Amino acid sequence: MLNRFAGKKVLVTGAAGFLGSHLVETMLEEGAMVMGIDNFITGNADNLSEVESENLRFIEADVTQPAGNYLQGEVFDYIFHFASPASPPFYQKYPRETYLVNTVATDALLQYLQATNPEGTFIFAGTSEAYGDPLEHPQKETYWGNVNPNGIRSCYDESKRLGETICGVFNRDFEIDTRIVRIFNTYGPRIGAEDGRVIPSFINSALHKRPMTIFGSGSQTRSYCYVSDLVEGILRLSLEPRAKGETVNIGNPEEYTVSQTANIIWREVYEESSEPMIEHKDLPGDDPTRRKPDISKAKELLDWEPTVSFEEGLKKTVEWFSR
Ligand SMILES: NC(=O)c1ccc[n+]([C@@H]2O[C@H](COP(=O)([O-])OP(=O)(O)OC[C@H]3O[C@@H](n4cnc5c(N)ncnc54)[C@H](O)[C@@H]3O)[C@@H](O)[C@H]2O)c1
Repeated sequence: MLNRFAGKKVLVTGAAGFLGSHLVETMLEEGAMVMGIDNFITGNADNLSEVESENLRFIEADVTQPAGNYLQGEVFDYIFHFASPASPPFYQKYPRETYLVNTVATDALLQYLQATNPEGTFIFAGTSEAYGDPLEHPQKETYWGNVNPNGIRSCYDESKRLGETICGVFNRDFEIDTRIVRIFNTYGPRIGAEDGRVIPSFINSALHKRPMTIFGSGSQTRSYCYVSDLVEGILRLSLEPRAKGETVNIGNPEEYTVSQTANIIWREVYEESSEPMIEHKDLPGDDPTRRKPDISKAKELLDWEPTVSFEEGLKKTVEWFSR
């Protein structure tokens, strides 16, 4: 590690989640003093049990509340706002909690930063869902998206878009350094086994010798980024002086159909010759047909691109699931 955050005070919301816990772990390795916040709505305390350090403090709190109530004047150099249910089954189970954490909490945390350290940096966990079912391919940051404002995914997609708007207002009108990372499908150890996302669902089914469920024909595409690549992209985004006020896609542009993904995962768990168990179900509403990030901005601005192959990342993830 490069000690890039030596002595920096960092707040991570959603710290007990999949990405939040990896962010906390890497920040500690990079020399930061970290405060993690979570209310465990979709997170898991076990995710942080692997990450103990005297430089980590944890508060159980709901970040949709005024931040002063639980942060009590503490000053941070960086706030990473990563709290939010992230998978369709969870955000559909908690639609109000989802739109509140991406909007009200974003505003509350930005107000807190403005009041306590207006020189600090705010990083918002945006999403490729901001592009909806995209009509442009691959998706560039300049594409405005094709999003249903009132469908079963809207509590997530539209609140992430409003979260971006709030960051833009604080950046333009109040001169706060906000940066948005549009995260594309990311996987790795600690991703929730039951949260309905493609990779954990397929691995879980394969390990239990249950059929892997493909919604629709399976010809829809996804691109998968390994978690360590994503975290490195986020770190570079937060440190790069030219990235103030910028929105950057971070994801892996290698594209796979959902059917290919099922076959690859089955063969990672069993030998080549074993025939994958697959069942098909109807496609849910507003399911995007193609997803692939254009990462030329991340390459140019952050000198970042993914380094972990799908094969290597899957191996590590399957190993973790097997444990
Ligand atoms: N994993 C991905 O592929 C992906 C893709 C795009 C965007 N994102 C974004 O990254 C962030 C993290 O996603 P994840 O995959 O780690 O999901 P996750 O569900 O594992 O983690 C989210 C965490 O936020 C916590 N949380 C939610 N609401 C809260 C609140 N009001 N107060 C305090 N804590 C709260 C949850 O308990 C959980 O621990 C989310 O904002 C998500 O939208 C993730």
